[in-house]
Amino acid sequence: MKILYCGDVVGRAGRRVLLDNLPGLRADLGLDIVIVNGENAAGGFGISPEICKDFYAAGADLITTGNHVFDQRDLVGHIDQDPRIVRPLNMLPGTPGRGSAELHLADGRKLLVVQVMGRLFMGAYEDPFGALDHALARHPLGAAVDAIVVDVHAEATSEKMALGHLADGRASLVVGSHTHVPTADEHILPGGTGYITDVGMTGDYDSVIGMAKEVALQRFRSHVPGPRLTPAMGKATLCAVYLETGANGLARRIAPLRIGGGLTGTMPDGD
Ligand SMILES: [Fe+2]
Ligand SMILES: [Fe+2]
Repeated sequence: MKILYCGDVVGRAGRRVLLDNLPGLRADLGLDIVIVNGENAAGGFGISPEICKDFYAAGADLITTGNHVFDQRDLVGHIDQDPRIVRPLNMLPGTPGRGSAELHLADGRKLLVVQVMGRLFMGAYEDPFGALDHALARHPLGAAVDAIVVDVHAEATSEKMALGHLADGRASLVVGSHTHVPTADEHILPGGTGYITDVGMTGDYDSVIGMAKEVALQRFRSHVPGPRLTPAMGKATLCAVYLETGANGLARRIAPLRIGGGLTGTMPDGD
């Protein structure tokens, strides 16, 4: 199975680079499944049902979220009506939405997507290790489902790596989200699970994790609350990870992808 996971889409700049590139990527890479993390798609805070529709129309099959899932109030009433939106599994009981979703490909193959949220520096969520362990035990890879993607939405790299090892050999891919900066550690764990600590955001990197840098900087330098944070509106980069699985559902190849924008170490000619 050929899977693409796109990192947290931030604001209009992130949405634009995603919508402009996804149809072409889907065709060029012959993708079976596209997963997009949309938790910051609406002005940096949450995602609206309309934006979900735009993502589906561009070729997304499934949308994961994170701690910002309910920042747009209209998603609260909508999430139970859309089986393709996933929020962290280890939110408190009674929270609307679902923590995992199963997708059926036209050829009969099945994919499971699970999201868990870390607890270090994140707030009071239920145990992500127990929740993930339980979800994986209920869906044996290569038997009940053909591929499993785990979105680990967490702040601490240690917690993400630990969750990766918990899932090793039992998931196709463990992909980190939330910190909005791509890490260079994509690899296949000993048990055969593709892993990356953070895929990075899909947004304008001339910013502070996607938000306009002036206000973000001011917030670090003063106790007086400044203006509201808004997304940076410059040229955005689409950060994603491509994963190819073998017949057993484990990873055969993992590769990061960066498209467009300013994530470059080279100055333009003439400077
Ligand atoms: Fe995010
Ligand atoms: Fe987040």
